[in-house]
Amino acid sequence: MKGVILAGGTGSRLRPFTHIINKHLLPVGPYPMIYWPIFKLREAGIYEILIITNKNDINSFLKILGDGEELNVKFSYKIQRNEGGGIADSLMCARNFIEKEKFITILGDNIFEDSLKPYLQAFQKQDKGARVLLKEVKDLSRYGVPQLDDDKKRIKAIFEKPADPPSSFCVTGIYMYDHKVFQCIDAIQPSHRNELEITDVNNLYAKKNELQFDILQGWWIDAGTHESLYKAFQKVNENKLGDDTY
Ligand code: DAU
Repeated sequence: MKGVILAGGTGSRLRPFTHIINKHLLPVGPYPMIYWPIFKLREAGIYEILIITNKNDINSFLKILGDGEELNVKFSYKIQRNEGGGIADSLMCARNFIEKEKFITILGDNIFEDSLKPYLQAFQKQDKGARVLLKEVKDLSRYGVPQLDDDKKRIKAIFEKPADPPSSFCVTGIYMYDHKVFQCIDAIQPSHRNELEITDVNNLYAKKNELQFDILQGWWIDAGTHESLYKAFQKVNENKLGDDTY
């Protein structure tokens, strides 16, 4: 299976640093942020990885990551032309890289403890559709929040940054899709904040009853704010997650 890491966007919540450096290259412990999702993919046996980022930042990624040889993986790169056009717009850049396969995509600011192996195994058994990973969190209005059915087995719908959250879970930025995801992205429209939202894509799968989920067991952090970046730094150090752990 192939992996895709999304590392575009504007990083507006991490200004002023992100005026001069891409968010995913900021330090989290001993490594730039993007190394952590790379290590997780590698540990799960995913070595072919596409990195999607902005035109102005691609050279910095190439400088630090190169073709992947040093990390024993193989990197490809794509530019998201519409900078800040949304997570789904960024993911669309993976269409040619993926072709007709199932794949996993991770938001480059998501840092987490669990191995991806059991979730990928469950996804492999799924004959079609998508699979998302949920985590119980406190600050729900920062995230996509699922509404579950009564026996908590099915996601009925997901609400992006809801004022009135329908559950205590957030949808993390770890998504597994079949190749039909690109047709779903083609079918959605920009949201009120003028972004192609991944939540709208996931809702198309939910509507067809093709959206499965698991709940992450370990800690999970979206390191996209100053506060959460600091927490990620602490977690990574506490857990001593050096790359030899993987
Ligand atoms: O972290 C989980 C959350 O991530 C989910 O619960 C939300 O449903 C999802 O919308 C997303 O919310 P954020 O507000 O955290 O998304 P953000 O704009 O920070 O973008 C997250 C990553 O996606 C970012 O690290 C890089 C990538 N991205 C984002 C945008 C807007 C791109 O590559 N291109 C983009 O245009």
